[in-house]
Amino acid sequence: MKTNNVIVALDVGTSKTVALVGDIDELGDLTIIGYGEAQTKGIDKGLISNPNDVIRSIKEAVIQASNSSGVKISSVIANLGGPHIEFRNEADFLSFGTTQKDITDFDISTLSQKVKEKIEEDNLKLIHIIPKRFILDDENEVVEPVNCLASKLEGEFHLILTKLNTYSNLKRVIEMAGVKVADFVANPIASTYSTIFDEEKEMGVLLIDIGGGTTDYTVVGPNNFEYTKALPVGGNNITLDISHRFKIPRKDAEKIKIEYGIATLEALENEQEIEVYPIGSDQPIYISHYELVDTIEARLEQILTLVREDLERAQIFEKINGGIVLTGGVANTPHIKDLAYNIFKRDVRIGKPTKYKGFSDKINAPQYVTAVGIMLFKKDSFRHKELDIAEPQNNDFSGFIKRILDKIKSIF
Ligand SMILES: Nc1ncnc2c1ncn2[C@@H]1O[C@H](COP(=O)(O)OP(=O)(O)OP(=O)(O)O)[C@@H](O)[C@H]1O
Ligand SMILES: [Mg+2]
Repeated sequence: MKTNNVIVALDVGTSKTVALVGDIDELGDLTIIGYGEAQTKGIDKGLISNPNDVIRSIKEAVIQASNSSGVKISSVIANLGGPHIEFRNEADFLSFGTTQKDITDFDISTLSQKVKEKIEEDNLKLIHIIPKRFILDDENEVVEPVNCLASKLEGEFHLILTKLNTYSNLKRVIEMAGVKVADFVANPIASTYSTIFDEEKEMGVLLIDIGGGTTDYTVVGPNNFEYTKALPVGGNNITLDISHRFKIPRKDAEKIKIEYGIATLEALENEQEIEVYPIGSDQPIYISHYELVDTIEARLEQILTLVREDLERAQIFEKINGGIVLTGGVANTPHIKDLAYNIFKRDVRIGKPTKYKGFSDKINAPQYVTAVGIMLFKKDSFRHKELDIAEPQNNDFSGFIKRILDKIKSIF
């Protein structure tokens, strides 16, 4: 097997850590050839609370993925999520004087660097600088300006940033688990790459990934990413609500949530009494199905309403005409589509990973869109640049430019 066609994605989530080994053929098609998954311990609401536990989870997932693929894993492309993700939309331009010139890759990277300098803050780390559109000579809008003639190049970019210490801590624990981090991809950006169709982007689409500890969301329109955010709330809060309301252990709360839980009281049929053991008791009690679903619905409604209100405040909600895509483990909750429709009054679908082959018996579910998306995000840059992810990235300026170009190219 040629190692330069192999890419490894690592999704360190609050609930589970997934490692996928992907093979990219000459046509750019992705086949998953290795899969590993471990329960994540030591992450709370998207942030590391116990590094040693996280290291163990990563090791377990990576070893499994390595064993199932027969590939020695030395470096990974990892996800970056959590509530510290933030975005900026920035624009800037370059003027080349009165005569027109051929726009080159170097001009694009110079412009990107200019934009990057605008937001330089000591405690923030830039993860992505994704072009939205380019305008030549104040009037000609293009997606790919390279090789076009212009005397002025203007670009609009969607930037994703995170707190420097969140970034450094995650990088450190992954490296302490024995693998290098070739690059990071932010959760919501990755997820769109494996689930969103061009037709949806044209109309403006909202992707919401409700995981264990975080809810990430992003709005993608005809001009690429518009708005990206993460909230420190997710499926674990539902489990905790159930645990608190019925005074039962978290493990049991999680179990009855998955077995009997649905998203709306309206859809509740065949109500049953659910047997549970309160904390510290060996005598079962029976809780009502109605109350269980009421607990789930209340929390889901709160999460989705927070998203809607935030997008309304940012005046972006009206741009979402292509519907809503729900991903993350919580998107498995039966009838969550109905609840989301009631809150957003937009078409809703459940997003599963697409554009890959292999291991679909394991990963064809909404909680794997981030891991598959990491690969798809990197795939195009891989094709263009023959990027060897086994090599550590350098941190000098030319390394920075190369990464910018990889990222820019990956969206064309
Ligand atoms: N069938 C199901 N019904 C309801 N909830 C489910 C179901 N399956 C998984 N979940 C919930 O999904 C959550 C885990 O989702 P996911 O695997 O996407 O999280 P993660 O990626 O590890 O976390 P995060 O992205 O928040 O860091 C858990 O709270 C789990 O209870
Ligand atoms: Mg996740």
